[in-house]
Amino acid sequence: MKMDELLGNPVSVQISKVITETPRSKTLQFSLDGPIESQPGQFVMVWVPNVDEIPMSISSWNPPEMGITVQSIGDATQVLVSMSKGDWIGIRGPFGNPFSTNSKKTLVVGGGVGIAPLRPLVYNLLDGGSEVTLVLAAKTENELIYLEEFENLKHSNLKVEIATDDGSLGLKGFATDAVSIILDGNDFDRMYTCGPELMMVGLYDLAKKRKIGFQASLERFMKCGCSICGTCAMDPTGQLVCADGPVFTGEQLAKLTDFGKYLRDAVGMKKMY
Ligand SMILES: Cc1cc2nc3c(=O)[nH]c(=O)nc-3n(C[C@H](O)[C@H](O)[C@H](O)COP(=O)(O)OP(=O)(O)OC[C@H]3O[C@@H](n4cnc5c(N)ncnc54)[C@H](O)[C@@H]3O)c2cc1C
Ligand code: FES
Repeated sequence: MKMDELLGNPVSVQISKVITETPRSKTLQFSLDGPIESQPGQFVMVWVPNVDEIPMSISSWNPPEMGITVQSIGDATQVLVSMSKGDWIGIRGPFGNPFSTNSKKTLVVGGGVGIAPLRPLVYNLLDGGSEVTLVLAAKTENELIYLEEFENLKHSNLKVEIATDDGSLGLKGFATDAVSIILDGNDFDRMYTCGPELMMVGLYDLAKKRKIGFQASLERFMKCGCSICGTCAMDPTGQLVCADGPVFTGEQLAKLTDFGKYLRDAVGMKKMY
């Protein structure tokens, strides 16, 4: 493979549109030329000039327009959410193993900005004729990303449920509380999730108990994004989140001793959850 290909064909792109999603998060859209394919669950490495290069899920892909949804938590994300139409960023990718979309009765659970990679998944599942129950969960109402978009979708195969930690909208409680209630009255063949890892561990336990297929998108510190540096390796299998993930099945997660226990920082030091 040529070096450029391995590195995900780096290009500079100009932001064509900025959408404010919540007080802390924005969607940035830009155009990518060339024969690019992207599937739900994949991500790109985003170069923020003079700051850093960071991984971001692809939250929309309507060729040639791609979108990323950024929540401000530190230096690079803060600069990204303060960008305007016409500003330049660098993009490499898409990278990673996508969600598989062959389920018929589906529960999709997004916690906070974890809903970003699930957005194209929901559209893909609906286009393929799946019934989708979507749980949008966040700490509080004004942190619910894409709420209006999904509520206004009014698709006969889509049901939207809300959970907020403070009860400002929907069920007062965590995503796992909402999912426990939903599972009591419904059968699903697969649960998909992305969000805080401890939430995903709770959902994994619920899915396992009911023998529901499970796929989760994980986050780990990434430097190269393309299986060169080893920063994102998981214990004990050595699987790379950038290449073997970020989407892992329940069977794969069962073998990962760091899932829900710890992650590693930029220099490989363990940080416990
Ligand atoms: C596959 C993947 C997809 C992601 N998708 C999204 C998304 O769609 N939207 C979104 O808002 N965030 C997403 N993130 C998280 C995002 O990459 C971090 O929030 C971002 O890197 C923080 O950078 P910072 O400079 O703003 O913050 P910093 O202050 O530098 O870091 C804050 C925290 O972010 C994490 N982080 C920092 N640098 C990296 C890095 N290079 N790789 C991974 N984690 C890092 C660390 O846990 C760190 O403690 C994703 C992460 C991964 C791995
Ligand atoms: S980020 Fe370098 S190997 Fe995964």
